[in-house]
Amino acid sequence: MAEVTNPNYRRVASLKTADDFAAYLREVGADLQFDRELQTGAESVLAQPYQLGDITIGNRFCILPMEGWDGTEDGLPTDLTKRRWQHFGESGAKLIWGGEAVAVRHDGRANPNQLLSNDATAREVEDLRKLLVEAHEAKCGRSDDLLVGLQLTHSGRFARPNDKKKLEPRILYRHPILDRKFGISSDDAVFTDGEIGDLIGDFVKAAVRAEQAGYTFVDLKHCHGYLGHEFLSATAREGRYGGSLENRTRFLRELVAGVRRDAPSLLIGVRLSAFDLLPFKMGADKRGVPEIHDGNYPFAFGGNVEDPLQIDLSETFRFFDLLGELGIKLVCISAGSPYYNPHIQRPAMFPPSDGYLPPEDPLVGVARQIKVTAELKARYPQMCVVGSGYTYLQEWLPHTGQYQVRNGLVDFVGLGRLVLSYHDLPYDVVNGRPLQTKRICRTFSDCTTGPRNGLVSGCYPLDPFYKTHPQAEALKTVKQELK
Ligand SMILES: Cc1cc2nc3c(=O)[nH]c(=O)nc-3n(C[C@H](O)[C@H](O)[C@H](O)COP(=O)(O)O)c2cc1C
Ligand code: SF4
Repeated sequence: MAEVTNPNYRRVASLKTADDFAAYLREVGADLQFDRELQTGAESVLAQPYQLGDITIGNRFCILPMEGWDGTEDGLPTDLTKRRWQHFGESGAKLIWGGEAVAVRHDGRANPNQLLSNDATAREVEDLRKLLVEAHEAKCGRSDDLLVGLQLTHSGRFARPNDKKKLEPRILYRHPILDRKFGISSDDAVFTDGEIGDLIGDFVKAAVRAEQAGYTFVDLKHCHGYLGHEFLSATAREGRYGGSLENRTRFLRELVAGVRRDAPSLLIGVRLSAFDLLPFKMGADKRGVPEIHDGNYPFAFGGNVEDPLQIDLSETFRFFDLLGELGIKLVCISAGSPYYNPHIQRPAMFPPSDGYLPPEDPLVGVARQIKVTAELKARYPQMCVVGSGYTYLQEWLPHTGQYQVRNGLVDFVGLGRLVLSYHDLPYDVVNGRPLQTKRICRTFSDCTTGPRNGLVSGCYPLDPFYKTHPQAEALKTVKQELK
């Protein structure tokens, strides 16, 4: 796809005053509140600790998981991986949600460079945590109020374990749109119930390694179209893991039972796509348009079956009820999938190479995630809720996060892409330092375009390290060819 920009939406950097920002939010229909005055320093809202049982988490910033497509083929971290984890530690955020997706076995890797959990990688995955904690202590002076988890995953439909360009999907059910979109034409890829049992065993073994490596929690990933998330929409699957919501959540219940049995000191968290909508594709004017689907669409968890461009949280609420019954308090809210509706998941002005022009002002996408998160937090106040999708807010991110936390609409402001360009923004905010505007992510999407074209991820436009990285030239060539 040619690199495209969208002239119709105003850039956030041009919204200089709170009045400008508020007026523009109204103009584009983004239902979003923010604080006009940013508090900074130790007394500020975002610097306040959060109490999770007997664990104190030192402030309200969370680093969201972000992989870099930069491990070795054996699943070990490289210097690039270590640099990213060091930055996560130096960020000043006191909650590290998972670091990055770590596959519990080879066929579940999203790319041949994804980190892998096995006995041969265990020591180095432990060292990543230590590196992060040491970097945090060096910058912030203490780490007793830092909570670090590890995200465990199987990439399911989006697995590319052996070749960056070759999907080798493992799925739960045949999907009328995604099978066509991603080239699945037989039942060969469908997991049997017995294979799911084996996979649960692999997740549990990975959790045991995480416990031994000193991680305080594991995230049993249920988002973004990967396998955990796919269970939740497996309405068309027969057998123990499909059909009713009871069956569709059996995977989670069995995972939790296994982790509690074999790694009893670990806390458990779940990162959830709290809603999903129809898949999108590029339309005639390069904007995203929904894929055509006639009749009911029961494949979007948290979406309306009869009108799958609308949200319906009734099953999401039942999922939260289940989390409560399972004694899980840690939940990180995300949405949709970067593979088939990226504007929902990662609002951006400039699409990645496999994306489309935003069909709505990206601020509308940000507001949608924040609103759903607030609705869940209001209904489940006892849950520790992390929000996502804030990066597009740019200069207004801290103001918006402060409003949400101050009003109890979320517990933690999760940061994704921004951390790749400006990892220590949380440190600056809680220490009363001015924002370094030149480092603010402008959602150019190169950190997604890179990996979509076989390169490592990183902030090529803004991070001086990646600006001069050898793969920056390769990325330029890719983007030229796409023009
Ligand atoms: C390069 C890149 C890698 C990502 N890797 C992961 C991942 O490993 N696990 C995950 O749950 N989300 C992953 N995400 C999604 C982010 O955690 C986050 O949800 C998303 O970027 C939206 O938040 P933001 O607006 O702050 O960027 C990734 C995003 C990017 C840009
Ligand atoms: S490449 Fe940099 S500026 Fe672009 S979206 Fe990623 S982090 Fe943001």
